[in-house]
Amino acid sequence: MKTPKVLVIEDDIQMLENYSRMLKRFGYECLLETTAESALKDLETSMPDIVLTDLRMPGSSGFDVISAVKQSNPDVPVVLITAYADIPTAVEAMKKGAYDVIAKPFTSEQLEIVLERALRQKLLKDENRRLRERLKETTSAELIGKGPAMREVLGLIERISQTEANVLITGESGTGKEMVARLIHQKSPRADKPFIPVDCAAIPENLIESELFGYEKGAFTGATTGREGLFEAASKGTVFLDEVGELPLLLQSKLLRVLQERKVRRLGSTRFITLDVRIISATNRELSRSVSEGLFREDLYYRLNVINIHLPPLRERREDIPVLALHFLKQYSAAYEKDIRGISADVMEMLEGYRWPGNVRELQNLIERAVILCNGDDLTIHDMPSEFLAKGKGTFSELTTYQRAKETFEKQYLQNLIKSVSGNISKAARVAGLNRRTIYRLLEKHNLGKER
Ligand SMILES: Nc1ncnc2c1ncn2[C@@H]1O[C@H](COP(=O)(O)OP(=O)(O)OP(=O)(O)O)[C@@H](O)[C@H]1O
Ligand SMILES: [Mg+2]
Repeated sequence: MKTPKVLVIEDDIQMLENYSRMLKRFGYECLLETTAESALKDLETSMPDIVLTDLRMPGSSGFDVISAVKQSNPDVPVVLITAYADIPTAVEAMKKGAYDVIAKPFTSEQLEIVLERALRQKLLKDENRRLRERLKETTSAELIGKGPAMREVLGLIERISQTEANVLITGESGTGKEMVARLIHQKSPRADKPFIPVDCAAIPENLIESELFGYEKGAFTGATTGREGLFEAASKGTVFLDEVGELPLLLQSKLLRVLQERKVRRLGSTRFITLDVRIISATNRELSRSVSEGLFREDLYYRLNVINIHLPPLRERREDIPVLALHFLKQYSAAYEKDIRGISADVMEMLEGYRWPGNVRELQNLIERAVILCNGDDLTIHDMPSEFLAKGKGTFSELTTYQRAKETFEKQYLQNLIKSVSGNISKAARVAGLNRRTIYRLLEKHNLGKER
């Protein structure tokens, strides 16, 4: 464990030196500050585990320290030291969120005990937060989709998660490839071992090898210590090679050899380490094309692609759009503490008709922004970001049924018509070349009565 850090704030230099000596003896690292102002300025970067502060100082007081620390990291306990150990101040300090109050004069044992307890509480809170984050990570992977395509994917995940076979996940950007990879890992016997994502497109080419396979001390200039590679770190778990199609050819050969021999050697080492990892890869390229173009090794392609999971673009599984939209609505209205219950019919129609070049991620982002903008019980057209409405216009009707496209057009035509004649139905009928009864019927049909 790393040495716990205590931030000490005390205006009396003599006292500060005493604290410093005691704390070092107790085994703490200390940061010394003579004013609350200077201490609070660096709070975000100094990241202390405990704050020990004098109550009365020139300038800001111990109370200011408490509220600043609460704001920056409420898990950090603040211990107050006061010469005015009157009960009212102590009570007020505890109410404001101080962890404990120590009255001067005190013995070094007293201080040690209080700090020890404070540290134990801080470590517990850290641990809790880590657990909560992990829980979120494991439960957030809920793959939504009820259409035949997603049902097939879900079935495939169930079956292959129990095997060791390498999986290649293909699909456009934002279709859920990483999510599927995590789900396979979570459902596999390797679930309690690491899942290590490697973004092959983001790591600079000259670093990929050392990132993947690790290196020994002195393997190259600057390698002052050795380091394990991601394959080693994933031992008994899963390595997720994201954007594997971007891997340079030279690295492809090295990866192939590692997969064939099932062992890795750190750069600059002669020792082989047996590899026990499952490989899941993903790409939004058409890898078979890269193979025929000579950009991707065919033998590696076959080795990675023992099982293929293809995630179709969202526009080819429109039946999933409403469930996904409602799922994200629920998720974000909870996150933003709003009580939005549904999505209005015309918005849903737009969502179903739109092309979604960014797939599920784009839908997710749109719903999040709409939730932020929304103040009512339902998401309506008024909550939709204007760029979406503008973008939607040209594209949202092209991949829908003729009937629906006609209805959408009819409604838009009618809206514009009524608006341009300022609601004068006789005039609208004349312009449209229809009789007034027909206009009324159409307004009724599209629920546009109130717009007149
Ligand atoms: N079926 C789904 N159910 C719920 N959420 C989904 C689904 N598919 C995708 N998502 C969400 O959409 C976002 C994008 O998914 P993910 O990162 O897995 O896509 P990707 O295919 O890896 O994209 P890229 O190729 O851009 O890396 C994530 O926030 C994910 O949680
Ligand atoms: Mg991804």
